[in-house]
Amino acid sequence: MAVLVTGGAGFIGSHTCVELLNAGENIVILDNFSNSKPDVLDKIKAITKKDFKFYEVDLLDPEGVEKVFSENEIDTVIHFAGLKAVGESVQKPLEYYYNNITGTLILCDAMRKHHCKRIVFSSSATVYGSPKTVPIREDFPLSTTNPYGSTKLMLEQILSDLYVPDHDWSVMLLRYFNPIGAHQSGMIGENPNGIPNNLMPYVCQVAVGKLDHLNVFGNDYPTPDGTGVRDYIHVVDLAVGHLKALQYARKHTGVEAVNLGTGTGYSVLDIVHSFEKANNIKIPYEIAPRRAGDIAECYADPAKAKEMLGWVAQYNIETMCKDAWNFISNNH
Ligand code: NAD
Ligand code: UD1
Repeated sequence: MAVLVTGGAGFIGSHTCVELLNAGENIVILDNFSNSKPDVLDKIKAITKKDFKFYEVDLLDPEGVEKVFSENEIDTVIHFAGLKAVGESVQKPLEYYYNNITGTLILCDAMRKHHCKRIVFSSSATVYGSPKTVPIREDFPLSTTNPYGSTKLMLEQILSDLYVPDHDWSVMLLRYFNPIGAHQSGMIGENPNGIPNNLMPYVCQVAVGKLDHLNVFGNDYPTPDGTGVRDYIHVVDLAVGHLKALQYARKHTGVEAVNLGTGTGYSVLDIVHSFEKANNIKIPYEIAPRRAGDIAECYADPAKAKEMLGWVAQYNIETMCKDAWNFISNNH
């Protein structure tokens, strides 16, 4: 029996593969490298000293996906593969709907044919839209403001519908908050091409000297220092959350949405100062206008993950900043 990890060469997927292998799971990775590189696979092997099967397959290729299922006994799928850039999704809605929705439909069709009815899905806090209050609980109203977010919400619905006629399905919808940091080894992490959109990769590029300062998008939000507040979570904590969700799904059928966050919000300036302190590097910044579509505050109520999965985030903001920098300074 094996766990199929789609998108396992990506940022969160690669860290999850490490945790799965370290826990003794047998894994098969599928990825088309549209947003990752093959050398990640060797790094996962070097960190864990374990081997696994890999398929360079696009989820949009039904025959390729069928081959993975017919050559392996897959008991669960952890489904990371998808396009994830909010701004790009506004420019390229069709690509986003096609890749994320059609890719998942093809995957689920193969699962059904092969009687594999357990899936752990990468959803996002983006499905909460602009929450009226924080911390955010799983039963808050859902809405989205861009095609990327819409694919997540639609996929939550599609995966939930699988259970209605067939109660053998087990569907875990994991709603991630803001994953940052990197594996302690410094071998795997996040290093986006071009100018980063997200805060921590941008801060790292300033630290490396590739960009000369950070633009802080707005300092007039109703938050303690006026800058946006988010729930940053160490990617290794997130990875462990997937292992716990897998263990839960093996024992239960049904559909569960679970927040994976720390429950603590940090502002943009908190991140800048924590990064400076943790790594002893100055991060010059300027206050810039608000970024369209941003909300003031977003952080999780992680109580359900604790109760249901026995999972609580372990790493603090200092470790997240140190590990992010350790990876980027070795790999830029
Ligand atoms: P990532 O881009 O690093 O990883 C995604 C992987 O999927 C990549 O390796 C890419 O090559 C692969 N992929 C994409 N489309 C594919 C296809 N059609 N067939 C095969 N492989 C394909 O992204 P990540 O940050 O690791 O995110 C993983 C998942 O978590 C995504 O679904 C993303 O939407 C979701 N998520 C990410 C964040 C975040 O901040 N990183 C937050 C919330 C949710
Ligand atoms: C983004 C995505 C969201 C996704 C989440 C996790 C957008 C609009 N939303 O959320 O769908 O689930 O990532 O990956 O992209 N900031 C700056 N300067 C920068 C970059 C960011 O001040 O150069 C600020 C932002 O205004 C925000 C905070 O930093 O207050 C975090 O931004 P970012 O890392 O992009 O994440 P989110 O916007 O929370």
